[in-house]
Amino acid sequence: MAYPFQITSMEQYEKAYRESIDNPDQYWSSVAEHFHWRKKWDRVLDWNFIEPKIEWFGGGKLNITENCIDRHLETMGDKPAIIWEPNHPDERTRIVTYNRLHKRVCQFAQVLKNNGVKKGDRVCIYMGMVPELAYAVLGCARIGAIHSVIFGGFSAQSIADRLEDAKAEYIVTCDGAYRGGKDIPLKSVIDDALMGNKVVKRVIVYTRTRTPVSMIKGRDVWWEDEMEHAEAQVERENVVSMPATEMDAEDPLFILYTSGSTGKPKGVVHSCAGYMIWATYTFVNVFQYKPGEIHFCTADVGWITGHSYIIYGPLCAGATSLMFEGIPTYPDAGRFWDIVDKHKVNFLYTAPTAIRSLMGFGLDPLKGKDLSSLKKLGTVGEPINEEAWHWYDENVGNKKCPIVDTWWQTETGGVLISNLAGVTPSRPGWATLPLPGVLPKLVDEQGKEVVEKDENGLLKGNLCIAAPWPGIIRTTYGDHERCRVNYFATYENLYFTGDGALKDENGFYRITGRVDDVLNVSGHRIGTAEVENAINMHAGVVESAVVGYAHEIKGQGIYAYVIFNGHKKDDDMTRKDILATVSRIIGPIAKPDKIQFVPGLPKTRSGKIMRRILRKIAEGETSNLGDVSTLLDPGVVEEIRAGKV
Ligand code: PRX
Repeated sequence: MAYPFQITSMEQYEKAYRESIDNPDQYWSSVAEHFHWRKKWDRVLDWNFIEPKIEWFGGGKLNITENCIDRHLETMGDKPAIIWEPNHPDERTRIVTYNRLHKRVCQFAQVLKNNGVKKGDRVCIYMGMVPELAYAVLGCARIGAIHSVIFGGFSAQSIADRLEDAKAEYIVTCDGAYRGGKDIPLKSVIDDALMGNKVVKRVIVYTRTRTPVSMIKGRDVWWEDEMEHAEAQVERENVVSMPATEMDAEDPLFILYTSGSTGKPKGVVHSCAGYMIWATYTFVNVFQYKPGEIHFCTADVGWITGHSYIIYGPLCAGATSLMFEGIPTYPDAGRFWDIVDKHKVNFLYTAPTAIRSLMGFGLDPLKGKDLSSLKKLGTVGEPINEEAWHWYDENVGNKKCPIVDTWWQTETGGVLISNLAGVTPSRPGWATLPLPGVLPKLVDEQGKEVVEKDENGLLKGNLCIAAPWPGIIRTTYGDHERCRVNYFATYENLYFTGDGALKDENGFYRITGRVDDVLNVSGHRIGTAEVENAINMHAGVVESAVVGYAHEIKGQGIYAYVIFNGHKKDDDMTRKDILATVSRIIGPIAKPDKIQFVPGLPKTRSGKIMRRILRKIAEGETSNLGDVSTLLDPGVVEEIRAGKV
């Protein structure tokens, strides 16, 4: 498959960018023509950011799985779609060709149908990184069910909240998942999440770890039995495959929950056509994918990166996507390099936090590993520090691989700002230029575009986008007003990203991090309010305030200030209890790195917590805490500073 919309020179980039802004309808219809439509669209774009209403390719009909699978079968049926690398290297690799993927996805779509799933129903997927996870996702898309994948690190309570919000009636899970040296009992977490739940009708359980699980009559069924049954049915009824359900361009494809500055995660909704085109267009252009290359994205499908760049983008482009079940440090810190060597990986896409953690093991794990197949590298999820960038460049890329620093978000569906590998220039620590169709604007607190440069000749402001691109969020599930307030109401007629950025004289952007109360821990988004709510669930906690601080490996660590008046014999034990509470309410990923017990919190007279001061103390700043005179009780600051952990 060739990609007529692939940009291969700086001149082409400049031309495409201009066209996409001057005449978006023409530009995006020329891209969309290269996808498979049941019916062509009537209008390319209809939008306003007031409601907001965003419709791309209105009137068009399609099914994303026909684009990801069926259309490749004739020419590439025997080519690997997914190469699966297990948690432990002693276990067998699995290679899933496009033909096999087609068969399994159709079969699982049949299973879903047999179990009562219909177009528009919500299916929650809580699985480890096995090929069956891709079959489940694509099986939903095949029949127009809306999938909501939940990362395996979330707790039963988090799952219960998401099930309720999505009003999901179906779940696909595994008995357990392997992650490094651990077995995670996924089904048992689901069982806890379902205590008292009267809405979920069916739980389909795939066997991975063969951990004993409870199977509730009338509710729980085994994946393997259901698949066998579907296969027999297909043979008996002599149907070749499960036909794909025709979807409207703007029908929802999936929900993915993500944290914001409120205490409750929101269900970001992406559409069928716009998301498909954005995921594929960015995959082909940012990573400069060439047919036959092996693409390795190390993310988990539980996050947007896995949705867009393990499943939808690569498969839609007919690529070979490597899916890895394990973690970078198991059985040792050479695991990524072994995989690159073994499968002759051409593109490696990972998070700065993984690079920093691997840097800590020195160069030994790289010895004897042939990384010469690598042509391009990429990073995602958080700002990359220059030291990590150079380590990646020198030791992994051997100074021969362009590195793409890709900035984007769950809400954007795919990359918005990044260099294009080897095509447009890179600069360490800078995401650089916007993709065609992306109109960034830096604004001040009042929403006025920043025009004055700072002392370094840079523009600095809050990063907004002034017009919709095909992959933009359409709504937050079940609550459109929330979507408006969160993203489109801070500044008039702009999508607000929540990030701060710098812009240099070349028009390059550098993302400096969140400007709202959202943390980025190891490339994962966590809302401070969510963590505070979880800490406050502990019986002895009166109040808490959570801030981020610079963490050498994770990028940001979580620092919690806690007012505690419960029974406390020993601080350490109480800290552990609080951690267990957070694990129970959100999941282990949200556990604070540091907990400091404090007598009070610095508040203004109107009762607002002065987080600026808490952030500075967490960062270890002892002088220059700024003006504390407006505080209700300035004395508390001294006590907090003295007790820093
Ligand atoms: O702060 C930005 C940071 O991650 C946030 C989005 O998080 P999430 O929706 O979980 O998606 C992560 C994967 C796309 C952004 O608001 N971020 C993401 N990529 C970068 C980044 N910060 C700096 N540089 C990046 N390349």
